[in-house]
Amino acid sequence: MRILFVGDVVGSPGRQMIQEYVPKLKKKYSPTLTVINGENAAAGKGITEAIYRGFLEIGAQAVTLGNHAWDNRGIFEFVEEAKYLVRPANFPEGTPGKGMIFINSNGVEVAIINLQGRTFLPPLDCPFKKLDALIAEAKKRTNIIFVDFHAEATSEKQALGWYADGRVTAVVGTHTHVQTADNRILPAGTAYITDVGMTGPYDGILGVDREAVLKKFLTGLPVRFEVTSGRTQLSAVLIDVEPATGRAKKIQRILINDDQSFFD
Ligand SMILES: [Fe+2]
Ligand SMILES: [Fe+2]
Repeated sequence: MRILFVGDVVGSPGRQMIQEYVPKLKKKYSPTLTVINGENAAAGKGITEAIYRGFLEIGAQAVTLGNHAWDNRGIFEFVEEAKYLVRPANFPEGTPGKGMIFINSNGVEVAIINLQGRTFLPPLDCPFKKLDALIAEAKKRTNIIFVDFHAEATSEKQALGWYADGRVTAVVGTHTHVQTADNRILPAGTAYITDVGMTGPYDGILGVDREAVLKKFLTGLPVRFEVTSGRTQLSAVLIDVEPATGRAKKIQRILINDDQSFFD
């Protein structure tokens, strides 16, 4: 089995890349399961029901989120009913939505988990302890457990990867929006990458209009962040999985932009 995971989709430039490339990637790599991180899909802030449905229509089986999950208030109108939407599992008890879902992919069950880091991000429940509880729950149904760890610090992401090694199929990092070159299979069989990278504007700063970000750095004044336009990029990973054991066999990066292309 093969999982295609696309990193943080930012605004309409990101959604356009999804429309254009997800069908191409599916044709080329034939993933059995496609997952998209949509935390920035609505103008950089959160997700709407229409965007979520659009991702499912283009062939995603699950949509993960992150710290921007609640930025678009539209989410509260559909999050409880959205079967394939996963928000960070370590938000406090009683938070709307689900932190883990199960998907049936060609007769094989897969658990999809979203967790959020606590380093340089708002305090939440412990992602490590939460993962233990979720693994125990998931293992009753499947050995294939995919984790999108939405976190800022490389150290926290590496720590969770090693903590989960041999217990989950993959720990892929999101949130920092720049693809890291450390994709590997950890010794006990967990696929790992610190950050998958983002999908959207290529010439912004993490997808945001450069002038606004520069003004913030140069003056310290509050500024309004807008998704920038222009050239675009797509960042993703492809993970090959042994279905019976849930062990990952291979994790490969996909990066599409005007300067380099890990995609032909
Ligand atoms: Fe993001
Ligand atoms: Fe984020």
